[in-house]
Order: sequence, then structure tokens, then C-alpha cells
Amino acid sequence: MSIVGDAKQAIQGAVQSAMAKAVALAPDSWVPGGEPDPLIRERYGHVGKPLSRIDGPLKVSGQARFAAEFPMEGMVYAALVFSTIAKGRIAAIDTALAEAAPGVVAVMDHRNAPRLALPPVFMSAPKAAGGDDLPIMQGDDIRWNGEPVAVVLAGTQEEASHAVSLIRVAYEEEPALTSFAQARGQGTRPAMFMGQQLHDERGDAEAALAEAEVRVDAEYLTPRHNHNAIELHGVTAAWQGDVLRIHDASQLVAHTAWSIGQMFGMPEEKVVITSPFVGGGFGGKCLWQHQVLAAMAAKVTGRPVRLVLSREGVYRVVGGRSPTEQRVALGADREGKLKALIHTGVTIKTATNAMPEPFILPTRSAYASETLKLDVQIVELDMLANTFMRAPGESVGTFALESAMDELAEALGIDPIELRIRNEPEKDPATGLPFSSRHIVQAWRDGAQRFGWAGRDPRPGMRREGEWLVGMGCATGTYPYYRMPGGAARITLTREGRAIIDIAAHEMGMGTATAQTQVTAERLGLPLDRVTFNYGDSTLPGVVLAGGSQQTAAIGAAVGAAHRELVKALLKLAGNDSPLAGLGADEVVSREEGLCKADGPARHESYASILARAGQDTVSVEAEGPPPLETMHWSMHSHAAMFCEVRVNAVTGEPRVSRFLGSFDCGRILNPKTATSQFRGGIIMGLGLALMEEAQFDERKGRVMNPSLSEYHVPVQMDVPEIDVIWTDLPDPHAPMGARGIGEIGITGTGAAVANAIYNATGKRVRDLPITLDKLL
Ligand code: MOS
Repeated sequence: MSIVGDAKQAIQGAVQSAMAKAVALAPDSWVPGGEPDPLIRERYGHVGKPLSRIDGPLKVSGQARFAAEFPMEGMVYAALVFSTIAKGRIAAIDTALAEAAPGVVAVMDHRNAPRLALPPVFMSAPKAAGGDDLPIMQGDDIRWNGEPVAVVLAGTQEEASHAVSLIRVAYEEEPALTSFAQARGQGTRPAMFMGQQLHDERGDAEAALAEAEVRVDAEYLTPRHNHNAIELHGVTAAWQGDVLRIHDASQLVAHTAWSIGQMFGMPEEKVVITSPFVGGGFGGKCLWQHQVLAAMAAKVTGRPVRLVLSREGVYRVVGGRSPTEQRVALGADREGKLKALIHTGVTIKTATNAMPEPFILPTRSAYASETLKLDVQIVELDMLANTFMRAPGESVGTFALESAMDELAEALGIDPIELRIRNEPEKDPATGLPFSSRHIVQAWRDGAQRFGWAGRDPRPGMRREGEWLVGMGCATGTYPYYRMPGGAARITLTREGRAIIDIAAHEMGMGTATAQTQVTAERLGLPLDRVTFNYGDSTLPGVVLAGGSQQTAAIGAAVGAAHRELVKALLKLAGNDSPLAGLGADEVVSREEGLCKADGPARHESYASILARAGQDTVSVEAEGPPPLETMHWSMHSHAAMFCEVRVNAVTGEPRVSRFLGSFDCGRILNPKTATSQFRGGIIMGLGLALMEEAQFDERKGRVMNPSLSEYHVPVQMDVPEIDVIWTDLPDPHAPMGARGIGEIGITGTGAAVANAIYNATGKRVRDLPITLDKLL
């Protein structure tokens, strides 16, 4: 993002903060969530049941069709050539051998690629989906090491991949900035994130730190991470008449349709993105070059194209998490009350995206400190654009903050849980807003009891079992409640009493289809088998991002709004011969497969009966959820208390996590089975962050050197212990269904809980992730 981009963001930010002030002062009843969602007091008991995934049978029998599994007549397979320099231009490209190779249909490079507009970069417009705004194969210039420079299209994947090896590219290299240290030396800039500067100051924190009775002040480092969803990024793309159809693996089908439409100069309705199943997203399954290259190649060849990124391809084309260098300084009095809380540091982005890793976000609302100083600075490198990766900001920010809290607890001789409870704020420390619902203290107490925290020896290195040093640690996890604008849904009710919900939402494996079927059945007063939840198609209503842990709230608010329209439409159809005659929409509720008077359920008429009398087969309504003003009126966050037990081998230094407990406070849990799985998945990703994950970036060449799962380590079965998960299940009165997001919180706090447990086991404080055995010897 350029300086001009920053200025634009600053103006947006000013408008936002003026509005935020007005919304903060508005009466509760004016704000969405001011009246608790009636679903918090449900009748049917669908919500909260551990329903198994409704798409489970399809998945285990191999019938769920993923993006790269759609067959198409005459389809060709694609393989990519990646640049080997970080900056410069293509001097020559020789594709003759490849073109003559068996099975090759065409080679596309900048010389014959269709002309198109720049990708709209994420957050630059409501439906912008691009990871960056660089031109895609439009010229001979190179912007990062790994940028696609040619696409081979052949009859089989093997033929395409082989022909790639026959292409010769000569480059004219230009000096590139690829070293973090060198870029820092040239100076940093303040980071802008979602229209706001990542900076916050209250009082004179440095002075308060200097005067504090007890202080800790340290630097924490987190490395570059790459996305590694099990399902590789892949698409099947075809031009069908004037319609571009793309089967994608996507977290944002509606955004993608609009963005690709912008690039090809087409109305968004002519771009149809479907994505019924996604094998993991985590922030990485947005719009990158591969979807666009496939669509371009389909135009060049006149045939449908399947383009699946290899594992290396994902590292070259799909951005990941940036490294961070963070300082956390805490000053406290002898009782542990925080006088100064400082969290600052530097991260890397490119000039072509708007995503500085916002690692101070968890610190804004964490503790009641007398003074506060938060700041993120950036440098910009010539590299693949970085992007969102599960709990961007919070995952690595809590590592630094919560490691520092553990260091402070030790310096004070206070139990680390007790220290956190002593600094529990009454209202949001950064915004002054009241909390919508914050029961982190209960999560701590429940978790401590279940984990057996009382049995921990606070002195490091005291517990040894044979070769193994054993320790326990804890940390706070947190992630904000978001609900983004644009959520809309259609409800169609049939004379047979069935409901069909249509919304352009996503199922990436987390259980959306299942939980939303439960929620909708509850809202409509229907049995589960009468509800069909359609999603994963850009032609459906709504602009819904499966990200920011916000999808459940976005869908919930949209379906809630559509339900209200449905009630109005049904009352109109019911007319004067109905037991409901004369009642207004506010006086009736959905119950027993129909509507009834809220305080007089005997006045009831079934949906089927209303439609039959009206002589209609169906009734269909569509509505948009209200603007998400609740987040400007309350401070809304999911919370977690994380507990870890590790064993560190005293001879080899090998760390093994032996027990883990996540104790969550995320409002109402809609489906305990799918939620447990999501919490566990987040924690497992957090174990990877703590102990293994690191993209090796060659600072001389700007190239990721370990683009494979054999060299970039993620936790496997043997690395993962039994993970216990509990929650408070206290509904948030201001969130749809009383539920806050749960998709990202599991990874937050986990890194620090592991690091703190390792300290308790060994007396070694590692402030540099990942904590590999060499750092423990
Ligand atoms: Mo998430 S990083 O918002 O998919």
C-alpha cells in the first residue's frame, strides 16, 4: 500500500472513528444486539447439540467434490514456471521445447496472455479479494522471487509438469530489498490496518515503566509462516458462453466473483464462483494469481483448465504470515498491578498489500494498566505479498505479551493466573467501551481446576522423570468478535413445510453447514431434516467472508433478518381467516413448524397451512443483516485460558507437549462436536507455531528455501497429545445466537503457554519461535 493508499485509509479511519463515537453513546436498543437474539432462549434444542457433520458421509465416501475434482469436457491441465529472481525483468523466455513436448496444448506467458486490469487488493473495496494489486502476467517485469512467469497447458498433469522443466528463462536482475535487517536500517513506517494506525497511547508508559517497582522488558521474535492447508489451492475454470465459471477453494466466493469481474471487465454476475467444500482455509484461500491464470489460460486455449498449485506452488504464489520483532515491557507494583504496558515492534509487508501483521491487537483489551503504549512499524520488502493467517496479530502477539506476563509473574513471585486476574479490566482499556460479555476469570478458574494447576511447582526445573524435565505453563488467548457488513440470506419456505436457506457462505471443514442447519431449524421451528442450507456459490445472496472468525455471526444476523421478513410475508398470506389474524410481526414467533402468538401459543398456524390457504407453493424472502454497529457499542472478544504441560528431554533438548487444555469463553457454543474440533485444530496449529513452523527465507535472494512439508514442519499425529477443551457456554447477549467466533482463538495464547511450560520445565526462557531443541541444549 502506497503513501496515497495510507492517506485514503487515514480518511476512512477518521470517518470510522467519528461514527464509532456516536455509536458508542447510542442507546442499546438502537444497536444490533441491543435486543438479545430470541434464539438465545431456544425452544427446540437443536442449538447446542453435538450433531455430526451433515456432510460427513459425503466426505468419508469420497463423494464431496472439491475444486480440483470437477470434471469438464476437453479439460487441460496447467503447470507453472516460477521466477528465480526477486526483482528485474524477463530478458528472454524460450518455450519452443516445451511447446513441442508430448501432450502440450499451449504455453502462456506475458507475451500471449490476455490483457486485464489489476486485481483489487483486499480491503480496498467492499468486495475486493486480492492478496495484492500487482498485474498478473501483463509484462516482463518481476516483483518477487517465485512469481509465475509461464503456464504450460497439456493433456495430463504429468505432461504439463514435465514441459515446465523444458522452459528456459533469462533474467535481467535488479537490486531487490529482501533483508529485514537492511530494510530496518533504512527506517520504518507506521503501520495502517483497516483504516486505523496501529498505535495507541495512554499516559506516559515509558516514564511509568522507569518508575515501576518491578519490570520486565524483552524482545520476542516470531518467524515467517506459510499456509499449508491439506487441500492444495486449486481451480477448475471454464468460459461457458459469456460466463466464466470457476470451481474454487474459497473463503470468499462473492468477493472473488466481483474482483475477477473487475479484472476481466465483466459484470460480477457473469463470473460464477462455486466452492462447496474447502480443505482448510486459515486466511490463505482468497484470491491469488492461480485463479486468474487459470481463467486466462482457459481463454488462450479455448478449453477448460485445471490448475492445482503444487505444495511448492502454494509457497510461491500464496502469501503467508510475516515475521515480527516485538518488544514487550511491563512495569508493576509489588502486588502485581500493572503501571506500564508497552508492546511495540516491527513487521514486514510488501508495498502492494494492506496487511501488516497487527500483533498489538490482543494487548489493546487485555489488561487494566495505568499507562499503555502500543505501536507497530513496518518495513516493505520485495517479496510475495504476506497475508492473513489464522488469528493474524493475535497468534504471534499473544506469544510476546503472554510470555512477558509469565516473566513478570516470576519476577513478582505471584502465580501467573493470579497476576492476570489482578489486572482484569472492568471496561475495555483501549476504547472505554463496556464488555459485551467477558468471563475470562471463570475460564481461568475452571481450567486451573481441571488441569490440576495447583500441583505445579512454580520453581523452574524442579520436576524430573528419568531423562525428562516436566513443566506446566499457561497463557491467555483472545480474538475479537467481528461481523462484517454485506451478509444477506434468502429463505424459501415450501408448502411441504421445508425451508431452503441460500447464502454465499463457506464450509472449509469447520462445520458451517451443520451448525447453520441447526441454527436455522431452531429459528424457524422446524425439524433438522426439513432444512436445507445452500452455500458456496457466488450467485447466492450475501457477501460473506469466511474469515476473521466472523462467518457464523454474519450468517446468523442475515438469516435473522430474513426470518423477520418471512414472518411479515407469512402474516400477509395468512390473512383474516387465520388464527394469527390481526397480529403484527412483533407479536408472533416461529414454533411447531409454523407461526404462533408469542404469548398465546394456542393461536398457531403451520407454514404448510398458511401456504395452502393462500394457494401458493412457496414463499421466498431475502434480507440483509443490519450494519455491524454492535462492535462500536460494546467491546466484544472471545477469550481463552490455555494450559500446557511439556516434557523436555534433558539429554537431547527435545520438547514434547504432553497435555494441553483450552478453557474457552466464547459465548454460546452452537455445536459442541464441531466446536471442539475447531478449538483443537487451532491449538494444534498453535503447537506448530510454538515448536516447528518456520519458513526459511533466503535474505540474499528473497526465496523461500523450504517449500515442502518435508522441510517446513507442522505437527503430525505423534506431536499432538490429548487436547482437552472446555468452555463457559455463557451466551453473549449482544451477538447473534449469543455466539462469538471460535475459528481463530485456539491458536492464540498457545505459543506462550508452551513457551511458559518449557520455562517451568527447564528454566530456559526462549523468546524466539519456534522453540526447537537447539535452543534448549
Ligand atoms: Mo482467517 S486468518 O481470517 O481466515
